[in-house]
Amino acid sequence: MKILITGGAGYIGSELVNYFIDDHEVVVLDNLMYDPTSLLRYTNSTNFKFIRGDVRDLKLLGDLMKDSDVIIPLAALVGFPLCDRDPRAAVEINYEVNQWIADNKRPDQKVIYPCTNSGYGTSEDGTVRTEESPLNPVSLYGKTKVDAENAYRNSENCVTFRLATVYGPATRMRTDLLVNNFVLRTLRDRVLVLYECEFMRNYVHIQDVCKAFKFVLDNWEVCNGETFNVGNDSLNMNKLQLAQTIQNHLPLEIIRAEFTSDPDTRDYIVSSQKIYDRGYSCDYDLDDGINQLIKAYSIIESPWYANY
Ligand SMILES: NC(=O)c1ccc[n+]([C@@H]2O[C@H](COP(=O)([O-])OP(=O)(O)OC[C@H]3O[C@@H](n4cnc5c(N)ncnc54)[C@H](O)[C@@H]3O)[C@@H](O)[C@H]2O)c1
Repeated sequence: MKILITGGAGYIGSELVNYFIDDHEVVVLDNLMYDPTSLLRYTNSTNFKFIRGDVRDLKLLGDLMKDSDVIIPLAALVGFPLCDRDPRAAVEINYEVNQWIADNKRPDQKVIYPCTNSGYGTSEDGTVRTEESPLNPVSLYGKTKVDAENAYRNSENCVTFRLATVYGPATRMRTDLLVNNFVLRTLRDRVLVLYECEFMRNYVHIQDVCKAFKFVLDNWEVCNGETFNVGNDSLNMNKLQLAQTIQNHLPLEIIRAEFTSDPDTRDYIVSSQKIYDRGYSCDYDLDDGINQLIKAYSIIESPWYANY
């Protein structure tokens, strides 16, 4: 098959290519906003092709789509700080381009699209969020992602994911993601000041995210048309528990504070049982990720890897 990955030079894409490159042709379209070296490791593969360009160039995107059996649209302005800085671009890239893909793809073309589960908001009564629970995103980032998800849910031959917060090292690193950020700050400062300590979040290792894309493609007949939460259900934990897990690996003082809040308010328990029931499972726990991050941070420097 020929797989088009937009935004494939990013955090998830730079690892995801590895899951397909041996068996399929992979074309990445990316404007290289961040690390231009993240895909170098694939240049020795004759299955790999890179096109530098903007997904808003619909002529280019349309030409690349024509040849593709599978489209994985990752290109986005990711995270609320980046979207708030350029709201027009956020709507164009995160929503309008995806609506265009959904409207213009052939019915036989498969799409796997990653939305965020941050739109599940708060569940003060402790109820577990499933794919049936309503999404009410607060931030512009969350809204554009959910609008794009709806475009694909209304189109044929599409699968959408609602990803937990991803963690772990990648060729294009992101240090703004919560676990990655906490481990980095622990190494640097040995202190974490936590707000919304009791708020529940859930997490998933980046390799398990990549595995979910491959799982869906390999099991299309049982996944087609579905929306799946993709998280590690054993990693529904609050921020304090996350920090305490890091404390098992590194010296860390935890200071609790109540001076700010997350603009994409999240306090929920999420179930990914639906995709587990199809045969998918996670391979990595939090301790694996923390150990890997400690090694990664002994190699790289920090500030250039955040999405703001
Ligand atoms: N990482 C997470 O925790 C997470 C959670 C939920 C959903 N997602 C979604 O997964 C996808 C990938 O996220 P990521 O963490 O890899 O983010 P990232 O910021 O590392 O990657 C985004 C990539 O898109 C590219 N890009 C941005 N605008 C573009 C444009 N106009 N044209 C072409 N390329 C463009 C960037 O250069 C970058 O390589 C995004 O759609 C994101 O919303 C990520």
